[in-house]
Amino acid sequence: MGGTDQGVAPAGVLRTARLVLRAPVPEDAAAIYATYASDPEATRLMGWPRHEQVSTTEWFVSMSMHEWKTYGTGTHLMFLGDTLVGSTGLHVDTKTPGEVATGYILGRAFWGHGFATEACRAMVEHARARGDRRIGAYCHADHTASARVLEKSGLVFQGVRPRYVVFPNLGPELADVRVYALGL
Ligand SMILES: CC(C)(COP(=O)(O)OP(=O)(O)OC[C@H]1O[C@@H](n2cnc3c(N)ncnc32)[C@H](O)[C@@H]1OP(=O)(O)O)[C@@H](O)C(=O)NCCC(=O)NCCS
Repeated sequence: MGGTDQGVAPAGVLRTARLVLRAPVPEDAAAIYATYASDPEATRLMGWPRHEQVSTTEWFVSMSMHEWKTYGTGTHLMFLGDTLVGSTGLHVDTKTPGEVATGYILGRAFWGHGFATEACRAMVEHARARGDRRIGAYCHADHTASARVLEKSGLVFQGVRPRYVVFPNLGPELADVRVYALGL
């Protein structure tokens, strides 16, 4: 269920030109698993291990619902009509008040249509509307497409942090990341 096309959006639901963005509910787990979370290619450069069974996705949804309850924001699933295409989010940085982090992943069938940029721009606007002070993101240093999405969304390259994050689907080594941020 991707939300509806008529009337006023329920609280917590965001709309862009083409997408509906909303918090996950337990009924979304199977689609999340099938669309991107279990796909080795889609998850290759993510900071979390690919899901090997749908119960992992169910656990993720329950953690995400807890995050929403605690912070009033979190993962936003992206829908095109009733079809799940991917996920973005706005995550509160508990160590730095006023800072939020974003990221995104799309099912492979939906790459190359500008959806990540559209969703990322919506997260920037949403952070601004919430009164957040700064939005940040990082990507693997070799991830040209993701860097491009962040730049097109207005985030500013802060530099490369060497050996900063483990990308578990690549291996156990720390990898270099490109860091981006935008003051709001
Ligand atoms: C990265 C990802 C989110 C991009 O989504 P998308 O909807 O295809 O992105 P967009 O269409 O909004 O924009 C992609 C931009 O990167 C560019 N791009 C794509 N692949 C590229 C490549 N290999 N080299 C250089 N640029 C590339 C596109 O041309 C486009 O820029 P342009 O509009 O200036 O031409 C998508 O490929 C994905 O979900 N990948 C798997 C998950 C992932 O890695 N997430 C990011 C973790 S940091």
